[in-house]
Amino acid sequence: MAPDLLALMGDTPLVRLDRLSHDVGPTLVAKLEMLNPGGSVKDRIGISMVEAAEAAGILKPGGTIVEPTSGNTGVGLAIVAARKGYRCVFVVPDKVSGEKVSLMRAYGAEVVVCPTAVEPEDPRSYYSVSDRLAAEPNAFKPNQYFNQANPQTHAFSTGPELWRQTGGRIDAFVAGVGTGGTVTGVGRYLKERKPDVTIVGADPEGSLYSGDTVRPYLVEGIGEDFWPETFDPDVVDVWERVSDAESFQMARRCAREEGILIGGSGGTALVAAHRFAATQPDDALIVVLLPDSGRGYLSKLYDETWMAEHGFNQPTAGKGNVGDVLEAKSSDRLPSLIHLHPGETVAAAIALLKEYGVSQMPVFAEAVHDDARTDDVLGSIRENALLDAALSDPGVMQRAIGEVMQPPLPTVSLDDPLGRVAAELAGGATALLARDGDRFVGVITRADVLEFLSARA
Ligand SMILES: Cc1ncc(COP(=O)(O)O)c(C=O)c1O
Repeated sequence: MAPDLLALMGDTPLVRLDRLSHDVGPTLVAKLEMLNPGGSVKDRIGISMVEAAEAAGILKPGGTIVEPTSGNTGVGLAIVAARKGYRCVFVVPDKVSGEKVSLMRAYGAEVVVCPTAVEPEDPRSYYSVSDRLAAEPNAFKPNQYFNQANPQTHAFSTGPELWRQTGGRIDAFVAGVGTGGTVTGVGRYLKERKPDVTIVGADPEGSLYSGDTVRPYLVEGIGEDFWPETFDPDVVDVWERVSDAESFQMARRCAREEGILIGGSGGTALVAAHRFAATQPDDALIVVLLPDSGRGYLSKLYDETWMAEHGFNQPTAGKGNVGDVLEAKSSDRLPSLIHLHPGETVAAAIALLKEYGVSQMPVFAEAVHDDARTDDVLGSIRENALLDAALSDPGVMQRAIGEVMQPPLPTVSLDDPLGRVAAELAGGATALLARDGDRFVGVITRADVLEFLSARA
């Protein structure tokens, strides 16, 4: 009999995934982290970060734990706080599912929800808000992105468990990378035991880790737009980059074919593991870590309408369309069709991008203003491309837009379903031009679509 719930954290089982790996040679095995008492891999660091702070005298009786977290770390910490009598305040980004927020509140924690569409330095960002709260008296911020107890826990527990459970046979370890704690700790331990083990990082499209252009994505808990102190990139031998659609479809398959209900980031890890397994010899043993349960995502990837609205299924049941998104965009924020002409300078374009706080604009034929027809579009100006041009050619500021512009933004029609919009945006476009018949009526960005969907969630 365990003395308390904390003693039951870790020592999660391994299970073979024979269905999902039937079409590849190697043996694929999953580490079931959703079987931790708090339902995720983050139980492990909740307790270790708190106990390290107690030992260092940073966290004292009656203290408050303040942490920015996408949810699972919050639950791990909330359980420890409940047992040890600390107050907990969690700061979460607004894309985190409502169920996860309710869950942390159920353990007695306070939760503050912050906007994702702002820079980390913005006072409203979840990093800034948590810094402010952590500066209050008696507050302790475990900071899972900085705290070395995070990777160390995995070097002391998860790594040795995998070694023991596979009898040293493990050839590759696959995991999603959020704080990087799991992959760093496990990777370091395994490489010490077996230098030729391969560590595979599973990364969402839109994350910096695998070198992608940073952009929003919907898988929760993994991928980043900065390099945390808890992640040692040298430990990862192979990166596999996975789309939201692939991750969610694989998570659903795992539930239906293996009977294991997992979250979206487990789907990302499984896609990576399967892809990697296909390149390995038949006798290889590949372990993939499944961080949490699908119970926290029933209204997202396990909901048919949600999947359809995001274009992750056949877009049959999609309710919203391009017109709805445009209508929801606050009309007083931007003139409907800010645009440039080919004769204007790059410097003027940059001033206009800055004035309206946008990162791309269409370029229309010289004489055209608000009433643009589909054949009046000559190209587009995109902030990323301008930055590249400015870095390689300092004289670019005085050049004409017509000489440096990019191809036009893709076009969608007012009655196109959101599935079509999602597919276009997933193809790498930063924004889309919306047309009504042969007239352009607006620009739609990823942020507009996400804002529209989150307002309806
Ligand atoms: C759902 C989920 N998956 C994966 C991870 C990644 O683990 P780590 O932070 O150890 O890299 C996290 C981290 O927050 C998570 O919440």
